[in-house]
Amino acid sequence: MADFIPALNDAGFSGFPAPAKLNLFLHVIGRRSDGYHLLQSVFQLIDAHDTVWLKTDASGDIVRENPLPGVPAQSDLIWRAARLLQEHTGCRLGVTLDLDKRLPMGGGVGGGSSDAATVLLALNRLWKLELPRSELMALGLQLGADVPFFIYGRNAFVEGIGEIMTPIETGECWFAVLHPQVHVPTPDIFRDPDLTRDTPPITVRGLATASTRNDLEAVACRQHPLIAESINWLNHYAPARMTGSGSCVFARFASQEDAARVISRLPDFWHGFTASAMSQHPLQGFAGG
Ligand code: C5P
Repeated sequence: MADFIPALNDAGFSGFPAPAKLNLFLHVIGRRSDGYHLLQSVFQLIDAHDTVWLKTDASGDIVRENPLPGVPAQSDLIWRAARLLQEHTGCRLGVTLDLDKRLPMGGGVGGGSSDAATVLLALNRLWKLELPRSELMALGLQLGADVPFFIYGRNAFVEGIGEIMTPIETGECWFAVLHPQVHVPTPDIFRDPDLTRDTPPITVRGLATASTRNDLEAVACRQHPLIAESINWLNHYAPARMTGSGSCVFARFASQEDAARVISRLPDFWHGFTASAMSQHPLQGFAGG
């Protein structure tokens, strides 16, 4: 695949995509002693994305332009990603960061995690650090359980708390994605006493024949009835399922026309979009190994 060439804006920032993911299924198979849950899931990259804008300099400062309302720099994932990489490598260069936020927040499509992964991948290139992918993935895991997947950059059967990857081919297809207008804090779903945490493990070889579901869906639907309504609506067209801890729900289609037809029938006050499956992350070439 040809190397990615970033767009350059008038202010001299380079733009890098941060694609979304869908969890084609998500099983909770146990819980670690630190409270994190052991998962099995297929993570699918899709072509809906945020754009992270970066301008490097020699100052050594990490500056966040246009911070999200109510999100101080120290809890902003793209700022934290840049700082973590700088501290880890002792790099003396700086960067100014901005974000064109398109992906729903609290939507289960991995937007914040993908933004952080894109910062690590892009700065690995722009700061000429040449860290191997495995090292970037380990750094990413310190920022969030979904970050390593985006650095891995290929569709994968994902295990552990989100750090163990087996690559898989998922094939070409389109998705209709509905975004119920609720923000789901992930910890609220994982800590719910009704969550089942004992789904029997499956193997990657058994994937094709395994019956799968999203174990977080029942809890999320109970906490947020709009999610259940969205699944019911989409189920009229194709089998619908929630991604991650919600709130987005999706169904798979063979063509963009089929997916777009469903989205065009959405009631006015509902939000949704179509997206195609991607076989790899656009910044796949930014880390070696
Ligand atoms: O790692 P991340 O910040 O995405 O996770 C948010 C929260 O979701 C964690 O603090 C934890 O409560 C929960 N979680 C979990 N098991 C996972 C991933 C996340 O319990 N595998």
